[in-house]
Amino acid sequence: MQKLTFIALAVVLLVGCRGMQSDDPPIHPNLNMDFQERFDPQEFNPFFADGRSMRPPVPGTVARGMLREDVAFYQGRSPGGDYVADLPVPVTRALLERGQERYDIFCAVCHGQAGYGQGIIMTGGYGYTPAPSYHDARLIEVSDGYLYDVITNGVRNMPGYAQQIPVADRWAIVAYVRALQRSQRASEADLPPSVRANIEATTGTAPGGEAAGGAPAAPGAGE
Ligand code: HEC
Repeated sequence: MQKLTFIALAVVLLVGCRGMQSDDPPIHPNLNMDFQERFDPQEFNPFFADGRSMRPPVPGTVARGMLREDVAFYQGRSPGGDYVADLPVPVTRALLERGQERYDIFCAVCHGQAGYGQGIIMTGGYGYTPAPSYHDARLIEVSDGYLYDVITNGVRNMPGYAQQIPVADRWAIVAYVRALQRSQRASEADLPPSVRANIEATTGTAPGGEAAGGAPAAPGAGE
């Protein structure tokens, strides 16, 4: 019996090493579903009228996780296509703090930490198009949706930041830019009564006697 096995094995090995070249396909004893009916990518398929085997998704198909139905949140626009006037998310302290952190990471390099457009990229002499001040009347007037759009898609010489900054963080930054704008236009009326009383007590005068009207102090170096 052992002899027979040995001979059978020897025959198989010798046949395997016979060193002859052949154009025939190799012998394929175990098919294992290697050959089956299917269409390769880009292959013609007579079943469909357009002859394509690769079918486009059914109209209206939405990839998982890509249903961005909330246009105000995702595009900063109303269903009619106008920029939303106000943030579509509640303004909380946490949102502003997140916005400040993200702003300082992504925007301050150009726009400056206080938003006067004097970030290091601008003051460093790199020849970059100057960034505007957020405290210009025009940018105070623009809607929250517009600011969101600038972050998302960029504007003229400013690149968009959609790739780096997720949607929720863009809104946090918008909220913080609003806070920056507000911070530079504060008037005495914004002071809490306790602080006003304190100023009155220490200086002997009501705060802001001569600065009435809420005119901003001359913009400093921007930081
Ligand atoms: C690489 C520098 C750079 C960075 C970073 C940058 N900006 Fe700008 N930004 C600019 C420049 C330059 C302009 C002016 C573009 C122009 O007028 O051609 C501008 C313009 C703007 C404007 C005014 C748009 C208008 O209508 O005039 C806003 C608002 C703004 N940026 C917000 C942001 C915010 C928010 C961030 C952070 C997410 C940011 N930018 C990051 C360079 C930058």
